[in-house]
Amino acid sequence: MCGIVGYIGNRESQDILIEGLKKLEYRGYDSAGIAVFTQEGLEVRKSIGRLANLEGKLEGDPLHGSVGIGHTRWATHGKPSDANSHPHTDNSHKFSVVHNGIIENYLELKEELIAKGRHFVSETDTEVISHLIAEEYDGDIVQAVQRAVKHMRGAYALGVLTEYEPDRLVAVRFASPLVIGVGKGENFIGSDIPAILEYTRDVYILNDGEMAVLTTNAVELMTIEGEVISKEIFHVDWDLVTAEKAGFDHFMLKEIYEQPKAYRDTMMGRVSEDGRSVVLKEIGMTAEQIRGIRKVHIVACGTAFHAGLVGKTVIEGLARIPVETDVASEYRYRSPIITPDTLVIVVSQSGETADTLAALREAKRNGARVLAITNVVGSSVAREADDVIITQAGPEIAVASTKAYTSQLIAFNLFGLYLAQVLGTRDEAFVAEVLEAMHKLPEQVEAIIEQAPVLKQVADSISTHNNLFFIGRGVDFAVAQEGSLKLKEISYIHSEAYAAGELKHGTLALIEDGIPVIAVITQKDLYEKTLSNIKEVKARGAHVLGVVNAGMEEEVGKSVDELFVIPKTLQLLSPTLSVIPLQLISYYASLARGNDVDKPRNLAKSVTVE
Ligand code: G6P
Repeated sequence: MCGIVGYIGNRESQDILIEGLKKLEYRGYDSAGIAVFTQEGLEVRKSIGRLANLEGKLEGDPLHGSVGIGHTRWATHGKPSDANSHPHTDNSHKFSVVHNGIIENYLELKEELIAKGRHFVSETDTEVISHLIAEEYDGDIVQAVQRAVKHMRGAYALGVLTEYEPDRLVAVRFASPLVIGVGKGENFIGSDIPAILEYTRDVYILNDGEMAVLTTNAVELMTIEGEVISKEIFHVDWDLVTAEKAGFDHFMLKEIYEQPKAYRDTMMGRVSEDGRSVVLKEIGMTAEQIRGIRKVHIVACGTAFHAGLVGKTVIEGLARIPVETDVASEYRYRSPIITPDTLVIVVSQSGETADTLAALREAKRNGARVLAITNVVGSSVAREADDVIITQAGPEIAVASTKAYTSQLIAFNLFGLYLAQVLGTRDEAFVAEVLEAMHKLPEQVEAIIEQAPVLKQVADSISTHNNLFFIGRGVDFAVAQEGSLKLKEISYIHSEAYAAGELKHGTLALIEDGIPVIAVITQKDLYEKTLSNIKEVKARGAHVLGVVNAGMEEEVGKSVDELFVIPKTLQLLSPTLSVIPLQLISYYASLARGNDVDKPRNLAKSVTVE
């Protein structure tokens, strides 16, 4: 996601900001910028692309001054561009802001600010904040920030400067990380510890609703209500590599742990305030166009394809439109029947996968409307599709996809509900019930992650095997396929996923004494059938782990060797939970085998060749 760094002291801030931003490069970004108090006032430089571009601009025209803020941007609202990069200023150029997070109600705020005569130069939600602070300012920047954040809904970590008070740097946090680095005669802010680790190891970690006012020699901590607080200093003893992973051993594990946030962020701004309907402002299709959709094709590769398999169940279940799901590399060559009343949904974390992009173009050539579900604003897929839902998982670094996949599931559920609303296939009470259950998912994911030690034990025993099977029915089969792919990718254990009822048509011949079988069983109407398939493999000596929904443990427990229970949710949403233990099992199995978890052999994060 985006990165923030800020400095107040006696050194040239430009150098410290650039060095800090370099330490955040690994997280991915598409533009960067800094604002520094110079003798001429508050000056801003920004540039699309790599930090080297910004450095190039600064080389010929450096900013001299010892107070500044900097930012690397990963586009969420508006494409990557100079204008959309941070820092953002108000119209007087007296206030400057860097921001991580998402302001849910920014469009409403923007309209209000425009009505007050403010004009906007970017498409970002952040620019709203600089105007808001300017509006609220009456001589005290701390109070102005406190008043401004009261208007904002969503997530934010902010660094704020005003030319009127050049000896203060204000930082504030709500639902987006921010740390304050304490130095001698200088202080820092950073969205992440690596940004400031070179300069200090003493940090305050801000909690939601807390803010800090930094001067050269002091850091004052308070709540956004203005109540002064005190905090223990956290002494960081991590090296830089550990700090980049926020203390986790691998990016994959960090990204598994980031899923609750990815769920929240993907839902943010897409649910009405009363929680009873889905709001997808990014969908340009009219109600009439939606009513005209006769079929849906979902096209993707790898993990994104597996998200599409779940998407098929979601859309067919909620909107009653027939859906076909295709692997992108097959789609074009099977001469698919694409008509103008086909909606083609392409799913791609990176938005750059060659086969997916080619499928998108084929669909458009045939007159279909294309919706992209992608994690990268401004990616090729996002640019070429007619409508785009951005998944808001933040950059994913580990090759094995985790949070990108689950946020694609969230996106499919939101889109399925949206279709159901427009088509009237589900009533408001139903939509509200699903949304309520979706709001509970982040906490439920956390509860599963707390069980990691149990899953590690399972993984340790699996890691000694060379073959393994995943089984499931219906949407559980889709999850089984993702679980199997995850395990293969990083542990190099051969595994296959089977529709549970299909085993006896051949694959059962491979079941022998002690072979592990993981059965995903979350669908009430299907579990009895899967239980009989479990009996088939058990009779041939398989060791079965059942991943079940809470409430099924008693019945299923009798038939399996081990059980892992996921918290109770609606059947429709169960893939968003049942996949989490499978991700953790794969992670720990890879670890037990001594593999390079984040960079598995022969695989690439983004596959831009056909
Ligand atoms: C590669 C990655 C997978 C990913 C697939 C599709 O194989 O290793 O993790 O699922 O590409 O990538 P996309 O960016 O289109 O989702």
